[in-house]
Amino acid sequence: MPRTLLVLNGPNLNMLGTREPATYGHETLADIAELCRHSAEQHGFECQFLQTNHEGELINWIHEARGRCAGIVINPAAWTHTSVAIRDALVASEVPVIEVHLSNVHKREAFRHHSFVSAIAVGVICGLGSNGYRLAIEHFAHLLQD
Ligand code: DQA
Repeated sequence: MPRTLLVLNGPNLNMLGTREPATYGHETLADIAELCRHSAEQHGFECQFLQTNHEGELINWIHEARGRCAGIVINPAAWTHTSVAIRDALVASEVPVIEVHLSNVHKREAFRHHSFVSAIAVGVICGLGSNGYRLAIEHFAHLLQD
């Protein structure tokens, strides 16, 4: 069984730390990557942590996860609300998915209330900041334990 968990991040998340800190906090994406790696290792998994501002690149990474990764934790960021292509790629990958958002999208603008990904995800975590990533990894570890 694959022991790699893929953590994918969509557009503008490279700006964390300086981007709207009142909404997204002061942690950087590097801090979150460290937290994910640590959490995955604690449970005997390897974490591959990636971010892109290019939708096609994210789609290619999702395709490459097929048969190679045990789970995908994804914060699709703004593409959550716009991209049928990312949803279709996730379905095609046949890898279980947990959707994560730092902020509670349901407390925010109406256009953030709809997600193209939620309906095909194992579960959705939002509003818990970087802890959401850790919880998603722990859930996969629990789900996939031998
Ligand atoms: C986000 C929420 C999205 O609505 C937004 O476009 C983001 C970040 C979050 O993590 O809270 O870029 O996914």
